Amino acid sequence: MKDALSPAGNWSFPTSVRFGAGRIAELGDAVKSAGIARPLLVTDPNLAGLPLVGRVLHQLAADGIATAVFSEVRPNPIADNVAAGVGVLRAGKHDGVIAVGGGSALDAGKVIAFMAGQGRPLWDFEDVGDWWTRANPAGILPIIAVPTTAGTGSEVGRAGVITDALSHTKKVIFHPQMMPRIALCDPELTVGMPPGITVGTGMDALAHALEAYCGRGWHPLADGIAVEGIRLVKENLARAYRAGGDLEARAHMMAAAAMGATAFQKALGAIHALSHPLGALYDTHHGMTNAVMMPYVLAFNRPAIAGKIARLSAYLGLEATFEAFFAWVLELRRELDVPHTLGELGVDGRQIERMAEMAPKDPTAGGNPVPIGTDVCRRLYHNALAGEIAL
Ligand SMILES: NC(=O)c1ccc[n+]([C@@H]2O[C@H](COP(=O)([O-])OP(=O)(O)OC[C@H]3O[C@@H](n4cnc5c(N)ncnc54)[C@H](O)[C@@H]3O)[C@@H](O)[C@H]2O)c1
Ligand SMILES: [Fe+2]
Repeated sequence: MKDALSPAGNWSFPTSVRFGAGRIAELGDAVKSAGIARPLLVTDPNLAGLPLVGRVLHQLAADGIATAVFSEVRPNPIADNVAAGVGVLRAGKHDGVIAVGGGSALDAGKVIAFMAGQGRPLWDFEDVGDWWTRANPAGILPIIAVPTTAGTGSEVGRAGVITDALSHTKKVIFHPQMMPRIALCDPELTVGMPPGITVGTGMDALAHALEAYCGRGWHPLADGIAVEGIRLVKENLARAYRAGGDLEARAHMMAAAAMGATAFQKALGAIHALSHPLGALYDTHHGMTNAVMMPYVLAFNRPAIAGKIARLSAYLGLEATFEAFFAWVLELRRELDVPHTLGELGVDGRQIERMAEMAPKDPTAGGNPVPIGTDVCRRLYHNALAGEIAL
């Protein structure tokens, strides 16, 4: 995509979203209107054991919809999880997927629905060039997405992130038809999130909006969505962390999550590029890893983004400078008990060289406003291990 000198772009915001507290009651109706008669509900083992999923199943049964459950999905899902899910889906002759959970379960559910009717191996559909055109669109089953975290925004996206356990890399599987037919966003489902997951996922939403806003490319629609998404995080994430039952704050965070993912079709950047190898090698939580990396990357990007960030800062009610925004990010991290260093996340320095090679190859790296290579990534990992911010 060209930059601002020659404005041009492909824009897409078509997800149908039913948003509001209590709207999980409409799930049966959503399933029927998507033309699904025998859904497979995909979730993770932790959620499968919580009352939340039990209630959903009870309600589907009351609506006359027989639903099977597949829950062999680990956080940062791997290809084996997808293969097992496709096996269950085919054996049960299911005709659609209800994905219930955080990004891990949503991504796994979406990719299972996608792979249901494909004859080629999963990695043939990685988000590289036009590889998505290799897919047989007729074989993709309809998806209903029901997020239970407020962060990844996978419910409005056309991709799923699956880890290749052999090469320890996170790969993005993309197809336009992987977009859920309906996203059912009920903030009541997020009330039981543990505080650490509330923070991690909320900071992921912030990272999406921030990287989209700062990223390369021309996409004024995404920019507008991103700045309001950042404002919603500013007003609501600490509230949701302090009082998990604050439904208004939960609702605004759920909106911010969908907005972040809508905006990042423009670009992501070095926060995600550096975070993905950490998640793949150390199995750290995706959003919390982004939260740790955020100020180190912001400081590095400063020469390219200072003007834009000053504008954003004014919109947020801060002094209209890069420094004011940067200070707010540091303060927010402290308020949310986000670790300042990678060491506090359980990451040692032993794989830095390997990660510094991996990060520039991550598909999100190209969106960073300043080009990043191995040397830059090595330096940023070292900074994050030492807790040194080179502003
Ligand atoms: N598709 C995308 O566009 C996209 C974007 C960003 C991240 N991701 C991916 O999403 C994954 C991370 O997703 P996530 O941050 O939502 O976390 P997650 O789905 O891995 O969930 C984290 C933990 O929280 C639990 N949990 C979720 N909702 C809960 C609730 N309401 N109550 C109690 N516990 C709950 C889960 O059971 C799990 O144990 C990563 O694999 C990441 O790469 C995808
Ligand atoms: Fe993310």
